[in-house]
Amino acid sequence: MSTDAIVLLKNDHKEIKKLFRDFEAAGENAHQRKGQIVDRIIELLTVHTYIENEVMYPRVRELLPDLEDDVLESYEEHHVADVLVMELAGMKPDAERFDAKTTVLIENVRHHIDEEEDEWFPKVREGLGRKTLQEIGAQMEQAKKGAPRKPSQPSALKKTIDAVIS
Ligand SMILES: [Fe+2]
Ligand SMILES: [Fe+2]
Repeated sequence: MSTDAIVLLKNDHKEIKKLFRDFEAAGENAHQRKGQIVDRIIELLTVHTYIENEVMYPRVRELLPDLEDDVLESYEEHHVADVLVMELAGMKPDAERFDAKTTVLIENVRHHIDEEEDEWFPKVREGLGRKTLQEIGAQMEQAKKGAPRKPSQPSALKKTIDAVIS
């Protein structure tokens, strides 16, 4: 089975974007259903940004220094998503701002995913080659097993600290 890093991350993106569409289709008053969808979005984004922050981004930065600016911008986009995710995790689905906050999260993450997939992942594929991408993919599979699933877990909070102080 392929563990190509970019294939793995794109599969995550696909799953996340499907949940975004489910949220948008759920209807104005489907609070309970939208709450469940957002719980799942929070879980997937927490795992996904963790494996990118801890494995993919540092490896790309180290091996392809030309992509440094793309990586740094992506860390910041993760941080914006993390802040929204943290706020949503503590919010009731029928709260006045719940839908608006989720909509802003969706807009931000869609933009971020497009940048990864269209702007700099292709350069990563070109620059690293198949074998290294397989290796990084395997490391991410491994990191997934111990990844935080909730934004309140210490390993998830580490991202916020890194975003501010490093
Ligand atoms: Fe990302
Ligand atoms: Fe991603």
